[in-house]
Amino acid sequence: MTALLEVAGISKRFGGLLAVDNATFSVDAGTITSLIGPNGAGKTTAFNIVSGFLKPDGGGIAFRGEAVEGLEPFEIARRGMARTFQDPRVFPEMSVIDNVVVGVRQKGERPLWAVLRGAEVDAQWKRARERAETILARVGLIDRRNEQASALSFGEQRFLSIARALVGDPQIVLLDEPTVGLDRASFGKLVELMKHLVTDGKKTILLVEHNMDVVMSISEKVVLMVQGGVVASGAPAEVRAHRSMVEAYLGKRHVASGQ
Ligand SMILES: Nc1ncnc2c1ncn2[C@@H]1O[C@H](COP(=O)(O)OP(=O)(O)O)[C@@H](O)[C@H]1O
Ligand SMILES: [Mg+2]
Repeated sequence: MTALLEVAGISKRFGGLLAVDNATFSVDAGTITSLIGPNGAGKTTAFNIVSGFLKPDGGGIAFRGEAVEGLEPFEIARRGMARTFQDPRVFPEMSVIDNVVVGVRQKGERPLWAVLRGAEVDAQWKRARERAETILARVGLIDRRNEQASALSFGEQRFLSIARALVGDPQIVLLDEPTVGLDRASFGKLVELMKHLVTDGKKTILLVEHNMDVVMSISEKVVLMVQGGVVASGAPAEVRAHRSMVEAYLGKRHVASGQ
């Protein structure tokens, strides 16, 4: 069976720095795959390449069996890939629900801005709002839907950004450190949400996450990046036991003396 997402030997250079170095990994449909590694390992750069925000210097990406490297972000999004950024990136002056409505993908329909007048526009707005409300209920923000996004706490803005990613009904969602900065209660809610998205929502998640307890408990597969390259990938227990894991997080000297 081919994977939903196949990343084959992608590279990205920033001046003298090889930020992503011939990285290869795959994500199976209906799973959570976690991309881990120390700060600066190239995880966000890899996300940016996969989602079309950066052009790779080399390598290929197949999504649902089709080559997508070099496509624009909106083209990749239209094929069913959504992402969040490390910062929540909501529109602060818009209402919570409007933040989500703007993310509604017009499947096979004319885009909202192309519909000039009449009943059709009302029907489309109604559908978009209903869809946004469903997603807001799912992330626990339905009661806040008419407030300005700026009135939300940092954690709530994080959930709002996830709602925006979900509203287009993507097949795969790329989440870049979604738990960072969350209090304990929101943290727990987010972990549950990710599990539900996969089990009930039939989504696939590619996750960048620093909390190893989360990574090891919810991932089907873990991909370890160090200095731009993938140094280990496989089942959580396999990667946790990998020599590169100790080197990556504790330094090489620890391996020499401690193992
Ligand atoms: N736009 C950029 N220009 C120059 N260097 C960058 C850029 N983006 C990232 N880098 C560098 O590339 C390396 C990988 O960064 P990043 O992908 O953000 O790592 P991670 O997400 O794993 O912490 C880092 O050394 C970072 O400073
Ligand atoms: Mg990052």
